[in-house]
Amino acid sequence: MKNTAIIGLQWGDEGKGKIVDFLADKFDAVVRFQGGNNAGHTIKVDGKTFKLSLLPSGVIRQKFSVIGSGVVVDPISLFDEIEKIEKNGVKISPQNLAIADNVCLVLSLHRQIDQILENKKGNNKIGTTCRGNGPAHEDKVGRRAIRICDLQHQPTLIQRVEELLLYHNALRRGLNEPEISSLTIFDELNSIKDKIAKYAVPAFEIAQRLEKCNAVMFEGAQGALLDVSYGTYPFVTSSNISLGQVAVGSCIGFENVHKTLGILKAYTTRVGSGPFPTELTDEIGEFLRIEGQEVGTVTGRNRRCGWLDLVLISHALKLSAVKEIALTKLDVLDKLAKIKICVAYKINNKTYNYLPQNIELWSKIEPVYEEFDGWQTSTLGIKSLKDLPKNALDYIKKIEELTSAKVVIISTGAKREETIIVN
Ligand code: IMP
Repeated sequence: MKNTAIIGLQWGDEGKGKIVDFLADKFDAVVRFQGGNNAGHTIKVDGKTFKLSLLPSGVIRQKFSVIGSGVVVDPISLFDEIEKIEKNGVKISPQNLAIADNVCLVLSLHRQIDQILENKKGNNKIGTTCRGNGPAHEDKVGRRAIRICDLQHQPTLIQRVEELLLYHNALRRGLNEPEISSLTIFDELNSIKDKIAKYAVPAFEIAQRLEKCNAVMFEGAQGALLDVSYGTYPFVTSSNISLGQVAVGSCIGFENVHKTLGILKAYTTRVGSGPFPTELTDEIGEFLRIEGQEVGTVTGRNRRCGWLDLVLISHALKLSAVKEIALTKLDVLDKLAKIKICVAYKINNKTYNYLPQNIELWSKIEPVYEEFDGWQTSTLGIKSLKDLPKNALDYIKKIEELTSAKVVIISTGAKREETIIVN
């Protein structure tokens, strides 16, 4: 197996967790390279449901799991997740979990300011997960974040906390919010610093260890349409998600990323605000939400649902040079009589094969659809391509034709074994 990057091709929640877990057996290591605990991966194995947010999905199979330098880590949330997953029978230790020691921390002040700023936005809310990930990324590029490696040396830490609070208290004064004392932050950091230290590994050592692996999987969180540079800005997350981020966030060189697998859900969902040209606000949208159990893993919010949008997906494919796709949740479409795929947009009578970045045009988008007959028979749990109904095969062929990518895996249910390997 080659070193493989797993990239979501929509607005997240494509079912990456299941595919990563399904493939993890073939890899020695699984690396998270971006995002933070805003991500949510649900994995069902042997009747148990695991909900992961920061931990790489490889932990379930006891693979060497890395939280790379591109991730921001909320330590309180991480230890909470570790406790829950250990109660579910998975052992986490420094033998199977390494966190790059230059990772920037998400603190309570980030969670607070995320919520405060979101509340101030009124009708223009981004719909963030309010996990503080956005503000933590801002502090990272503002060069005032606190990293794991800062925690053990008191004089360094004092200086870092002062710099962080200089900025945050100025911001909070401007927003009429009470200032935060350095004591509060020190208490918070002291409560986690020894616990997190045992997992902290210099990025250089992680790179050396990954180089010795036969096959490494790079596990993306969110999806390409939430990429801060190329997504539906400003309704995006705060990190880069596309292929370019894999090397930056994984502590390794780009020549060590050999292959990309794009994860595509058979229809589209999004949580939070922002454009969604193929959104269905009718009974079919409701059907997809219920049938697909489309509720956010992290926030519990209902996901917005709609038809597959090949305009957006084609862009996502290009950004990460994706040639192979894992198609998920095909079974959710089983009962539909008609299924549509959006193949272009019409805006003011002009046809677009990409999403224009001008926000003022978004409300004028009219999706151009191709319509297909549904298969109206259960595909749940099918394990072989030959057992899929003809109309489902036609739908898959159409996706391949429109994307010029090959569907190599088809997921027909939430369980690990409910999967078809095409190639
Ligand atoms: P943030 O990443 O919490 O700042 O949220 C920014 C946007 O990204 C919001 O619309 C969130 O709903 C969305 N988002 C963040 N993480 C995920 C995810 O893992 N899946 C789906 N949407 C996400």
